[in-house]
Amino acid sequence: MAKPARNTYVCQSCGGIETRWAGKCPSCGEWNTLVEEATPAVAAVPGSGLAKAARGKRTVLESLQGKSEEAPRFTTGFVELDRVTGGGIVPGSALLIGGEPGIGKSTILLQLAAAVARAGRRTIYFSGEEAAAQVRLRAERLGLTDAPVALAAETNLANIIETIGGEKRADLIVIDSIQTLWSDALEAAPGTVSQVRAATQSLIRYAKGHGAALLLVGHVTKDGQIAGPKVIEHMVDTVLYFEGDRGHPYRILRAVKNRFGATDEIGVFEMAGSGLREVPNPSELFLGDRDSASPGAAVFAGMEGTRPILVEIQALVAPSSLGTPRRAVVGWDANRLSMLLAVLEARCGLSFAQADVYLNVAGGLKIAEPAGDVAAAAALLSSFSGVALPPDHVYFGEISLSGAVRAAAHMTARLKEAQKLGFTKAVVPASGEIDNTTLTLDIERIDHLKALAEALTP
Ligand code: TYD
Ligand code: MG
Repeated sequence: MAKPARNTYVCQSCGGIETRWAGKCPSCGEWNTLVEEATPAVAAVPGSGLAKAARGKRTVLESLQGKSEEAPRFTTGFVELDRVTGGGIVPGSALLIGGEPGIGKSTILLQLAAAVARAGRRTIYFSGEEAAAQVRLRAERLGLTDAPVALAAETNLANIIETIGGEKRADLIVIDSIQTLWSDALEAAPGTVSQVRAATQSLIRYAKGHGAALLLVGHVTKDGQIAGPKVIEHMVDTVLYFEGDRGHPYRILRAVKNRFGATDEIGVFEMAGSGLREVPNPSELFLGDRDSASPGAAVFAGMEGTRPILVEIQALVAPSSLGTPRRAVVGWDANRLSMLLAVLEARCGLSFAQADVYLNVAGGLKIAEPAGDVAAAAALLSSFSGVALPPDHVYFGEISLSGAVRAAAHMTARLKEAQKLGFTKAVVPASGEIDNTTLTLDIERIDHLKALAEALTP
């Protein structure tokens, strides 16, 4: 006789399973994440007792040398999206796109679906969050109503699988969003770990078996992770994050995992009245409305993947009335700012102890590479001394704790981009190779932060 199903408590953060409720998940230590769920149906299917399982069949073992073709891809019609995915979408692959509410996930997926459908590929769009009429209204606003996208508002997993199974082969299946799907085989509520995991699993199995590309939208939690356990990110082939500041029109699509390409590429879009527009030259956009006459602004020649991007770093050093002065950072790492201030104090003898320090990266971009140090230091020094930096200078280089300036990757590409945009001088690390055959801009090489501090403070 089968034992009556017992409910278990599943952590919505790590997927850990407990037999009794607790305020704090014993596996990952998160609070208030345990949710009661009926024991997943998978546990009841054969396979739990190995002894009773059918005898296995031999698998053919292969060598690494065998010929296999480059994964066939289809381009999406969006250069920025193709760049992020590593050259286009691979049939049979699953792609997860995460992002905050209202950032534009549904918009970009509808534009993408329309572009793919217009190119003659069978595209099905399942909307779990909006009614078909709402999606149609958006399509109308975006001027996409003529695209042959098959649309359905559906959240029942079985119905979705049945629908795509009964159709002629689909090339692209969009699910907006994975958190709204539910299967009645599970007793858990939609959006819980078991439901999300089961839905993702079935859809991926279908997509792999039928060579359809799967695009899933995933919600993010308040700390920016895709809701549900990491296991969802493990299951899919590609994970993209759609980032941006809602106060700015710029949106950045960033690959954090990609089984078919590099992960350091970004795609830049601009949210306009007619949907998302690609931005082929992001530097021009990030430097757009620059006020170069006031102190505290330095232009950083940065890299995003293989693409150079110039962006302005702004600093404000103001006298503080607080016992512990404020340090606030937007778009950069707060720890790096503390480190930079400590190095300026210890190695260059400049004290920021009586000053509030604010640092901001213009345009809502986030800088993660250490080569931003020299530009941030230049902005800080400029604000500290109240002297504006020359508007046609760019800066890059990493600063170590000793104050030494270290080489950065792709120095030539950064300089070429700066030259293209009309900059005439670059302050760069002393070490590191530069191919200056086509470079006409002035290059000043510095080996220590002191050189910069002496030049910028009277
Ligand atoms: P949406 O794609 O619904 O976001 P998500 O699916 O990530 O939650 O985007 C909604 C926002 O985008 C909304 O606040 C308005 C803005 N928007 C535009 O500015 N222009 C447009 O053409 C569209 C369709 C949306
Ligand atoms: Mg949406």
